[in-house]
Amino acid sequence: SRRVTVRDLRAAKERGERWPMLTSYDMYTAEVFDEVGVPVLLVGDSAGNNVYGYPDTVPVTVDDLVPLAGAVVRSTSRAMVVCDLPFGSYQVSSEQALTTAIRIMKETGAQAVKLEGGAGTAESVRRIVDAGIPVMAHTGFTPQSVNTIGGYRVQGRGTDAEGVVEAAEALEAAGAFAIVLEMVAAETAAEVTKRVSVPTVGIGAGPHCDAQVLVWQDMAGLRAGRAPRFTKAFGDLRGALTEATRAFADDVASGTFPAEEHTYH
Ligand code: KIV
Ligand code: NA
Repeated sequence: SRRVTVRDLRAAKERGERWPMLTSYDMYTAEVFDEVGVPVLLVGDSAGNNVYGYPDTVPVTVDDLVPLAGAVVRSTSRAMVVCDLPFGSYQVSSEQALTTAIRIMKETGAQAVKLEGGAGTAESVRRIVDAGIPVMAHTGFTPQSVNTIGGYRVQGRGTDAEGVVEAAEALEAAGAFAIVLEMVAAETAAEVTKRVSVPTVGIGAGPHCDAQVLVWQDMAGLRAGRAPRFTKAFGDLRGALTEATRAFADDVASGTFPAEEHTYH
């Protein structure tokens, strides 16, 4: 079976079909999500705060993401795999952006890249697309700019709404095949979704986007502590993993594991 393409996603929007997107950073999650039929998997720089133990995505490098993206590609056959361009790997110039995008495509086998920003990144998007690499845009709240934004703040409220709409239109005009809207007021995300012909992928952007994305650890309930309002735990992986780990530790301590059936003679 062939992989999902940019044409499939545009056709889904034309048919009014909503679709899910999840992050993935390894083999078994990628396998499960692909088997379920999640059409797009993102090797996000959210690996920074979900795999690598950093407080945010700012420290993440291309070298960090390349092996993870390779694993996700090798573990899937249907999903389109999108790999993030991490902070510092594309902001210097459109030439740097293109060079990084080419490296990621060659070294990981991903089918597309994603980068953050508004109209100011349109030139980079255009150059990468012109080189034959599909680009997913990401605007609204852009985590790589958390330090200039001044925290995790909702975008596109009030007079700020037009700015988000204009950014999305510039990104579509530059050739982006989809646009992630992160922490955007639902009314503004609805307006963007109406105004652009490419799919919008919401995260904290209300119910009117064409698609919805979550970090998989949030979706599955693996994350510890309080999650942001926009996530939902659809399972309790944290609880399941804690129970399994306790059972293993207890059985080792009591000598009931390994049992006869686990033992060679
Ligand atoms: O890195 C990531 O997980 C993302 C999604 C939140 C869109 O960029
Ligand atoms: Na990201």
